[in-house]
Amino acid sequence: MNPSPALNEAKAEEAIHFLNELLQLLPGGVNSPVRALSGLERRPLLIESASQDRVTDLSGRSYIDLCCSWGALILGHANPRVLEALASQLPKGTSYGITSRLEGEIARQVVALMPSIELVRFVSSGSEATMSAARLARGFTGREVIVKFNGNYHGHADLFLVQAGSGLETFGLSSSAGVPQGTVEKTLSLPYNDLGAIRRLFADPNLSHTIAAVIVEPVSGNMGVVPPEPGFLELLRSETERTGALLIFDEVITGFRVSKGGAQELYGIKPDLSCIGKIVAGGLPAAAFGGRREIMSYLAPLGPVYQAGTLSGNPLAMCAGLATLQAIQEEGFYAELERKCHLLLDPVEEAIFNSPLPIALQRVGSMFTLFFGRQSVRNLSEARECDPVLFKRFFGSLLDRGIYLPPSPFESSFISSAHSDNHLTEASEAICAAIHSLG
Ligand SMILES: Cc1ncc(COP(=O)(O)O)c(C=O)c1O
Repeated sequence: MNPSPALNEAKAEEAIHFLNELLQLLPGGVNSPVRALSGLERRPLLIESASQDRVTDLSGRSYIDLCCSWGALILGHANPRVLEALASQLPKGTSYGITSRLEGEIARQVVALMPSIELVRFVSSGSEATMSAARLARGFTGREVIVKFNGNYHGHADLFLVQAGSGLETFGLSSSAGVPQGTVEKTLSLPYNDLGAIRRLFADPNLSHTIAAVIVEPVSGNMGVVPPEPGFLELLRSETERTGALLIFDEVITGFRVSKGGAQELYGIKPDLSCIGKIVAGGLPAAAFGGRREIMSYLAPLGPVYQAGTLSGNPLAMCAGLATLQAIQEEGFYAELERKCHLLLDPVEEAIFNSPLPIALQRVGSMFTLFFGRQSVRNLSEARECDPVLFKRFFGSLLDRGIYLPPSPFESSFISSAHSDNHLTEASEAICAAIHSLG
């Protein structure tokens, strides 16, 4: 329930004061850059609370949330099962720094849901998972080159912060100040969905035998939703296998999102290593990486590759994750999510059809993106051709109508099981109206 207008005004004033103070305390007023809403000519949201499919800001205004903590909250905010699990764990302690029963219970679920994972290591963030998986791949293969794809994001570890490239000549150019050239000189970033570039890379015997791993978002979520073209993941699998490199699926977003067993189940490809995050921790700070026993056994304490963490396997994160993984395995969970997606997006497809503007709606399961200015997007270059001004207007128009989208054209929106039909209909109407007003 929104407070009265007078109360709202006072709270809005207070929120602005608080934001000004935050700007003096946190760089850009935020703890992660995209939250600053840079370039969108809006103030960053300051959230007071959240429940089910809504977030409420300090001024008392509620928004239907289509960001869902960047995909972590597949059950929505403050899910009762997750809260109950947390409440029963809290009096038992918040961190042990010693292995707990919960770590075994959640590991059992993960290996059952993703059979390519035989051994799993829990960490505290997706960045930590991908960074550790890359180190493990290098340690296991004795090779150093890591291949990634333009527009895929694997967290902020130095070795992944390279500029988008078109081929071998673009090896290892760092994309962030503070990343030493030496750290990225063994990282190569290629165009997503470009089968020719992959064939050329692996056809070079001098180079192909230096590749420790290819890491890929099997459905890209970080240039907006870009699905893999037929043959892309298959080629990565066959070429890495042929040349002795490892294939790492970064399923930090797609794991338990695009299907119960992630993108690897959806597309029927078995990676050597997988990184999972977000959903696996039910909205708490944890993630994991895992894969073939032979590879994972290279990890300390079994093997020579070092990796560790004070809060790894944190009991609160483990029990929130466990409650979430149990919920997604209930009969009909994904079918119901799919129904909700149709409720939200079928009318949007029609609005796009009737719009004079080229707009692409790309969706895999309950993750989707609207691209303004193109009929389809297959890679980062095409995503960058989209019109940022149209996105800014679209985002602002939805915000004004009480709908919160991820605040960047290069992100995925998410639907949770907590989105009510009423709110999805409301959001759908708002999206259609916004599309109409752009045209
Ligand atoms: C595919 C992918 N990998 C890794 C990460 C990094 O995860 P974290 O933000 O938890 O470090 C993200 C974050 O959004 C991601 O989308």
